[in-house]
Amino acid sequence: MKKRHTITAALPYANGPLHIGHLAGAYIPADIYSRYLRLKGKDIVFVCGSDEHGAAIPIRAKKEGVGPQKIIDKYHAVIKKSFEDFGISFDNYSRTSSKIHHKMASDFFNELNEKNIFIEKESEQLYDLKENQFLADRYVEGTCPNCGYEHAYGDQCENCGCSLSPTELINPKSKLSGNKPILKKTKHWFLPLDNFEGFLNKWFLKEKKNDWKVNVFGQVKSWINEGLKPRAITRDLDWGIPVPIKEANGKVLYVWFDAPIGYISSTIEWAEKKQLDWKPYWQDPNTELVHFIGKDNIVFHCIIFPSILSASGKYILPTNVPANEFLNLEGQKISTSKNWAIWLHEYMKDFPDMQDTLRYVLTANAPENKDNDFTWKDFQAKNNNELVAIFGNFINRVVVLTHKYYDGKTPLAMALSEKERELVDEVYSYPKKIGESIEKFKFREAVSTMIDLARLGNKYLAEEEPWKVIKTDQSKKVDTIMNISIQICGVLSQICSPFLPNTSLKLTNQFNLKNIQWDKINKDNPIISNEIEKSSLIFRKIEDEEIVFQLEKLNDSKR
Ligand code: MF3
Ligand code: ZN
Repeated sequence: MKKRHTITAALPYANGPLHIGHLAGAYIPADIYSRYLRLKGKDIVFVCGSDEHGAAIPIRAKKEGVGPQKIIDKYHAVIKKSFEDFGISFDNYSRTSSKIHHKMASDFFNELNEKNIFIEKESEQLYDLKENQFLADRYVEGTCPNCGYEHAYGDQCENCGCSLSPTELINPKSKLSGNKPILKKTKHWFLPLDNFEGFLNKWFLKEKKNDWKVNVFGQVKSWINEGLKPRAITRDLDWGIPVPIKEANGKVLYVWFDAPIGYISSTIEWAEKKQLDWKPYWQDPNTELVHFIGKDNIVFHCIIFPSILSASGKYILPTNVPANEFLNLEGQKISTSKNWAIWLHEYMKDFPDMQDTLRYVLTANAPENKDNDFTWKDFQAKNNNELVAIFGNFINRVVVLTHKYYDGKTPLAMALSEKERELVDEVYSYPKKIGESIEKFKFREAVSTMIDLARLGNKYLAEEEPWKVIKTDQSKKVDTIMNISIQICGVLSQICSPFLPNTSLKLTNQFNLKNIQWDKINKDNPIISNEIEKSSLIFRKIEDEEIVFQLEKLNDSKR
């Protein structure tokens, strides 16, 4: 493991609220990873911010009948609030409309332009005669040449995830007027990705084979092997960062040129607040750079942005890009336009104080290696059968018994038997086990190991039956049983922290414990709680009616 860590999560477009797919794809895994590294005492920065450029913003603005600035201000606030609600622990949440970001993106362009990295080229682009405007990216829709989906955007097909340019669309239609666009000549700056094949072959294909996720590696490899083409990094749009040279009057930087630079700008903003030097976080080879994203962002983070960084030459390249696949909802693709989604601000209204439950379900069911389905029934089952019946139940039994027998004070253990020694060894092996899974970006495995510890605790109580032993002449044995059980609660309170931060806080309060450094949780350092507060349940059961209500709500709001 390297010395320092820069962790990024995809900058969400500030053109709408967040839904569960966003959380599952990038933000929860990034947050678990960051929290875990902090608990290990690592030097990290975890950055994000709103992506406020690109055609998506003015299109949304038009739809809502307001200016783009109104849109970004509104959704920046909504998105930021959702991240706070769900405990996504960014060190800094910035926005790409910030001054520092405009400067960074312009500086990058100028630097690469002066190095003659770009090519300038005239090409024919789609143009809406009625609106007198070029139709970049999302201003145009049509049939995907790759999969036949009829509502592919000009930059990307949401159905198959392939990346497109507007002129590749079959039957293109302007999103502004609905008209069929014409072709018109215009000049743009291109990043000639073909010139980066040598770099990508060496950096990516040779070096990244073994530790990257198969789905990510495969996608990038096939992109590289199919041969890369120059990509335009400027646009004829009136919303974005102006191309910082005179002859490009009226043109702006392509959103995918500026947005990833937003990670750097956000880091700079953070460092300024903290009075730290930002450069080691982006330029010291002893820093691990990890991008958390969804699969539709793979090409930008594994090919284009690394090429830009390498062209500058000063920057480190990503150590890993553990992209997730997609999360579906009740068997269908999550879709903003069809309103087929669970919106985070809506969830907060219906399930206040149950953020950890959603975090848990989205982690246990994360689309790590393949697309996965979220269903309300499964949400209820995972909450009731795992969080309540296993985790919560174990804690509750221990708290109740400790109060009943010992007035809430932890009894001293007697000399441990062979079996008990083994159990204690096992209990304290969990932090390491979970850490190994997290370091491999196997968050499903990690969270299921966490539940296993609660399971182990339940099994121990069921086998030892302290409620029976207490009535026999062996009743002193109960001291040991409860002492060990309380230690299991203590370890649980620590290891659930990256996944379920609110629960961890409740538990450490209830058991009067402090947060311990992850690597210091071991049996030579037993986690003993002196005084346990009376029980308040840490999870609650979800009733059938609540699920019926959610399913009706979802179906009724579908467009
Ligand atoms: N806004 C993009 C999306 O939602 C992600 C941008 S990620 C960044 O798909 F790297 F560009 F920041
Ligand atoms: Zn497609």
